[in-house]
Amino acid sequence: MVVSAHPEASRVGMEIMQKGGNAFDAAIATQFALAVVHPAAGNIGGGGFMVARSNSGEVATLDFRETAPASATETMYQDSLGNVVQGLSTDGHLAVGVPGSVNGMVKIHQKYGSLPWAELVQPSVDLARNGVVLTEKEASGLNSTREDFLKNNKHQPYLVQEQEWQAGDTLRHPDLARTLERIRDKGREGFYAGETADLLVKEMQRGNGIISHEDLAKYTSVWREPIIGDYKGYKIISMGPPSSGGIALSQLLKMVEPYELRQYGWQSTEAIQVMTEAERRVYADRATYLGDPDFVEVPMEELLDEQYLKSRMSSMSLAQATPSAEVKAGELPVFESEETTHFSIVDPAGNAVAITTTINGSYGSYVVVEGAGFLLNNEMDDFSAKPGVPNMFGLIGGKANSIQPSKRMLSAMTPTILEKDGKLFMVVGTPGGSTIITSVFQTILNVLEHDMTMQQAVAAPRFHHQWLPDEIQHTTDAIPAEVRAELQRKGYTLKQRGQYGRVDAILVLPDGRLEGGADPRGDDVAAGF
Ligand code: GLY
Repeated sequence: MVVSAHPEASRVGMEIMQKGGNAFDAAIATQFALAVVHPAAGNIGGGGFMVARSNSGEVATLDFRETAPASATETMYQDSLGNVVQGLSTDGHLAVGVPGSVNGMVKIHQKYGSLPWAELVQPSVDLARNGVVLTEKEASGLNSTREDFLKNNKHQPYLVQEQEWQAGDTLRHPDLARTLERIRDKGREGFYAGETADLLVKEMQRGNGIISHEDLAKYTSVWREPIIGDYKGYKIISMGPPSSGGIALSQLLKMVEPYELRQYGWQSTEAIQVMTEAERRVYADRATYLGDPDFVEVPMEELLDEQYLKSRMSSMSLAQATPSAEVKAGELPVFESEETTHFSIVDPAGNAVAITTTINGSYGSYVVVEGAGFLLNNEMDDFSAKPGVPNMFGLIGGKANSIQPSKRMLSAMTPTILEKDGKLFMVVGTPGGSTIITSVFQTILNVLEHDMTMQQAVAAPRFHHQWLPDEIQHTTDAIPAEVRAELQRKGYTLKQRGQYGRVDAILVLPDGRLEGGADPRGDDVAAGF
């Protein structure tokens, strides 16, 4: 089964497995297909993370996150007075980190692939050449971004046409087809060297960007140690730094474990309080301690220490909210698409892959590499442009996540796999910037504590707290009116917001069948056989 953000991408991944490919082959094909059919977030110009578990229980996590270019500096988004210049880290060429996706796919194929590389890239070449029929959501996404594309490109990118896009229009990508052919034929060299690299560097020079040929030649993805957590006997396998996702999710689950969430009831005042209080404390830790482990020492063991997590919740009271102003990062024990996209895959042998991949904002930096037909990320905004100044997700950061040449920016992406009694239980993840962690957290609890099916769990309305701003963000339908009133009486600030996240997940049912959960907020589809 493949659950992804687009029906064509799910189909491509499923067909690879029908041809005998494994979950890793399917993941590579799905990643490239998403770059064609879901340009808002699918990519070859971005990066991401993979969490995988083989049918024998072997776990692997790959970091193919973007890096800062070699000539990046800590204050590159500040003016001469030290103020952060609005838009510099989010729009246009200077916002782009060195892409990691193609190298990530090559590394996955070298280690786990079973079908030839070219067979995995070919379906996306075909999609790009023959064209993709736009869904309602893709058409409206492109229309609402038209001015950003025109402002940030010196040429007219293929994503813009004279009249508005309509659902049912066919979008063809001839330049992208040629780029994908180079990747198909030359692997890593088809992107990081030769014509694609020349076009990318030329694009940078046209728009004040700083990625060089050396940056591209030097880029490599990294196999990392997974973060392994536990919630009531379920093993939680997730992504470690430079993503904050695995640590934050494990902290959250451990912090709420002692509370009777099932008895409180779904979206009850008490359940929301307990989860919110855990979230505000975890995001405060994130802002202080987390960054690229190749550059800063991340106190992982301490952040996941059970006593520490217990002590973090000792100041919480069900009588009233703890103001975020009174919550700082914890004193550690002495031992010291908002757009992104996620897909989950389980193959017939039981191998499981969770990949979350991103160009950061919806359509990234809006820059399309002229002649190469792909969008570049604006991932540099995930660094802290200045301590205490929020990024586009309202997240603040400090020294640990400051910009340094070749460093990876902190992420919230949380591709996650759960095991029960040593067997595969769930594959889950989502886009959503800062809300990724809490969406995965709630989806897991919806199944484990509130007995929802996988589809119900991903479709359920969600709420989110990230320490600062000190507010529970919720969608219209997420919290009943009387519960909102009670929370307000207890001192919580509530803020209504638009829909967020597109959780795509797979649950292994007791009889071994797979149940897909495809988020109805997008065009997401579960495809299986
Ligand atoms: N760009 C979103 C994230 O990595 O968290």
